[in-house]
Amino acid sequence: MAIYCSLNGKITAQEKASLGVTDLAVLRGYGIFDYFLFKYGRPLLEEQYLQRFYNSAEKMGLNPPLNQKELSRNIHELIAANGQGNGAIRLVLTGGYTPDGYSPSEPNLIVLQHPYPAYPDAYFTEGVALISHNFQREWPEVKTINYLTGIKLLPEIRRAGALEVMYHNNGILRESVRSNVFLITEKEELVTPDSEILFGITRDSIIKATAGLLPVITRRVNMEEVFRAREVFITGTNKSAMPVVRIDGRPIGDGKVGHWSKTLKEKLEEYREAYYQSAEV
Ligand SMILES: Cc1ncc(COP(=O)(O)O)c(C=O)c1O
Repeated sequence: MAIYCSLNGKITAQEKASLGVTDLAVLRGYGIFDYFLFKYGRPLLEEQYLQRFYNSAEKMGLNPPLNQKELSRNIHELIAANGQGNGAIRLVLTGGYTPDGYSPSEPNLIVLQHPYPAYPDAYFTEGVALISHNFQREWPEVKTINYLTGIKLLPEIRRAGALEVMYHNNGILRESVRSNVFLITEKEELVTPDSEILFGITRDSIIKATAGLLPVITRRVNMEEVFRAREVFITGTNKSAMPVVRIDGRPIGDGKVGHWSKTLKEKLEEYREAYYQSAEV
């Protein structure tokens, strides 16, 4: 557990840091966030994550109290203050203290440090299950703090022995609640949806790391194709590339973790490691 967090640019003991009760994030769930890893004290793909964060802020009409350069400096200061080489950083930008219970004002900016994510090995060696649900995220390209549907469905997800819920919009695949979805088709292509999704940074890394290994196609994908796929995997900053072997109780492919899910996860890890090794401190 990290000792320090940052609130509006000030490094503060996390135990003492607090936000007032009239923040629009509390009253109306209005805010955005982002989340990325760091290793050897170096944030992974920092520029890409920060750009997405500032784009989300702009699209939601929120003006962060720090500019991108100042925030970057603040993140590095926080990592140094906590003194851990590896971990994860969560940025949260709220609607601010609302004068009337509804209108946004000056946003509050929170930076939290979390442990480096560690899913059980079995999730990668044996794969995970998902359930599907007909749902379209509002402002899909924005990383809002709104996870109402996914959280509401947690009991159903757990009853099914699943890890997450996969969203489709009337039969058109979108994404999973906290990850993007990839298929390996019968033609041995890597396919992933191209619209009405959050454009995951890990999705982008997988596409880059796959170059030259398989044809990569971004397009509209329907749910029948998902069930017919040879392999399915999900990608997310904290999940890397995680194989999916069952959806709604139906096996995907032969119901076992496939060759490409394993190989592309390795390629993703190599891609990330190469970044860490090359990034300037
Ligand atoms: C809705 C949604 N889609 C996709 C992703 C994966 O994005 P990334 O790879 O940038 O973590 C996330 C991550 O939290 C998400 O919330």
